Amino acid sequence: MDVLKAIEERRSIREYTGKVPSEETIRSIIEAGRLAPSAGNRQPCRFVVVWDRDKILKIAKASMKFLNKAGVVIVATANPKLDPKWYPVDTGIAVEHMVLAAQSLGLGTCWVGAFDEEEIKKILEIPKEVTVVAILGIGYPKQVPSSTSRKKLSELFFKDRWNNPYS
Ligand SMILES: Cc1cc2nc3c(=O)[nH]c(=O)nc-3n(C[C@H](O)[C@H](O)[C@H](O)COP(=O)(O)O)c2cc1C
Repeated sequence: MDVLKAIEERRSIREYTGKVPSEETIRSIIEAGRLAPSAGNRQPCRFVVVWDRDKILKIAKASMKFLNKAGVVIVATANPKLDPKWYPVDTGIAVEHMVLAAQSLGLGTCWVGAFDEEEIKKILEIPKEVTVVAILGIGYPKQVPSSTSRKKLSELFFKDRWNNPYS
C-alpha cells in the first residue's frame, strides 16, 4: 500500500475481531520498527512483542481494557541512559513505522500511553533502568471509526516565518 494512503486511512482502532495475526505478518511489522531511524543511530529502544493471551489480558488490566481483544500487543521501551535526550523521539518514530506497516497489511492499531508502568514492567520482567514509552495494540479491526478532526493546515504550518499561515 502507498504510504500516503496508509497515513490517510489509519485510525486508532479500539475494537478488534479477536483474530490473531500470523507470525509472518507481525514479523513484517516489527521489521518496519527495526528499520526506523534513531539519533546517531544509537537505537536505544527495545520492544516486547506479546502473543501470550494471559499476559495480554494482564496488560489490558494495567492499561486500556480494549487491549484484551488485540491480536498482539507491542510494548515499546527504551533505556534512557543510551540516549537521554532522544529516546522518546526514537521510540515514537519506531512505533509509528509499525503503525503504518500494520495499516498497509490490513491491521488496525491503537497507540496507548495510559498505563501503569510498574505493573507492565512486572508482567514482562522489564528491568528497572528501562522505561516503558508506549504500548501498541494490534489486531484486525472490528469496525473502522470515521476520522477524527485535525487543525487546519494554516493553523499548523507557517511559510518562511512564524505565524505566516500556509495556505
Ligand atoms: C502518544 C499517544 C498516546 C495515546 N494514548 C492513548 C490511550 O492511552 N488510550 C487511547 O484510547 N488512545 C490513545 N491514543 C490515541 C489517540 O487518542 C488518537 O490518536 C487521537 O485521538 C486521534 O485519533 P486517530 O488516531 O483515530 O486519528 C494515543 C495516541 C498517541 C499518539
